Amino acid sequence: MSTYHKVYYKKAQEMEEVEDNSIALVITSPPYPMIEMWDEIFSLQSDEIKAALEVGDGSLTFEKIHKELDKVWKELYRILIFGGIACINIGDATRTINKNFQLYPSHSRIIKAFQKLGFQNLPEILWRKQTNAPNKFMGSGMLPPGAYVTLEHEYILIFRKGEKREFKTEALKENRRESTYFWEERNIWFSDVWDFKGISQGLNNKEIRKRSAAYPFVLAYRLINMFSVRNDTILDPFLGTGTSSLAAMVSERNSIGYEIDENFKEIIKERFLKVISFGNEYIENRINSHISFISERIKEKGPTKYTNENFNVSVVTSQEKGLKINKLSSIKEINQEFVLKYKEIEKDPTSDNLNESKIRIKKSGLNQWIS
Ligand SMILES: C[S@@+](CC[C@H](N)C(=O)[O-])C[C@H]1O[C@@H](n2cnc3c(N)ncnc32)[C@H](O)[C@@H]1O
Repeated sequence: MSTYHKVYYKKAQEMEEVEDNSIALVITSPPYPMIEMWDEIFSLQSDEIKAALEVGDGSLTFEKIHKELDKVWKELYRILIFGGIACINIGDATRTINKNFQLYPSHSRIIKAFQKLGFQNLPEILWRKQTNAPNKFMGSGMLPPGAYVTLEHEYILIFRKGEKREFKTEALKENRRESTYFWEERNIWFSDVWDFKGISQGLNNKEIRKRSAAYPFVLAYRLINMFSVRNDTILDPFLGTGTSSLAAMVSERNSIGYEIDENFKEIIKERFLKVISFGNEYIENRINSHISFISERIKEKGPTKYTNENFNVSVVTSQEKGLKINKLSSIKEINQEFVLKYKEIEKDPTSDNLNESKIRIKKSGLNQWIS
């Protein structure tokens, strides 16, 4: 049981290292058009963007930036397998240019671009990201009508290349069964509004910008488990600090990342090399959350009909019987590629069946069992 993780420090407009029809899932967050912190990185990639910014033409700048991003979206169509999915985290922007305040709706421009490429547009997620910043309200304060609504949400747009993916052989079906998620996770993950805070984005490295613009691990972890199966390859064309690859590692998927700024190399490597303890704690918490949930449910409604075959834990539906989560055992860098190895979660030796009075599985900490 191994997975492989590769990072290319170059721009994602041409991903010549990635074969056609080879990637099961893309998760990414591009630099957001019309947010000032990204002006420089976009200007460096296109003289037309630089010129539009210099003359202060907001609408033209917006369109030129999206034209540059379109090149990456086109590559995604090429490299995704049929039935493969792309999840794009994007926020709209508000900005005043030449005294003209406007909303720049990147999410709708990106939907148009993907539809034009032939992707199917699937229901999206609205990520509500509340801010407590004291200066969050813009415009004329309490005086109507010159105040503006504060943007406190982002989007996770979801697209598919073609029809639903098929799993034809028995081995593929078995791998899919092992890649399921818990019923109570499904109920939260597949809601169209996600409500969790962003993460602290300070970067302690003077070679790079002040903020990482990283998304939380949980965002990438959920999407990977929702839209891919174990051993798939996940791609992030705007890798940043490497969150998507980390989530792929913890989910037993392979990953490929592109990042234009080579100064991120150290940060990415540092995060990758710490994945074992972080990932195992995350997995233990996930299983323990399920145990808390199912023990409450059993108390309320009585025993469930089904037991997960790998952890001996009760589950709500028969689809969850095959769910398998392996723990991470080691990470090594070999020829500029990170190789992860996994081990099976040990079953509680004192229990071979779970019921409402006997929930036994390892709690975080190595030798503690809860019952
Ligand atoms: C919003 S950040 C991604 C953050 C990432 N999701 C994380 O969790 O750290 C966008 C990243 O894309 C990189 N970038 C910008 N233009 C790029 C391009 N054309 N190709 C590859 N990377 C690019 C930026 O340097 C930045 O790190």
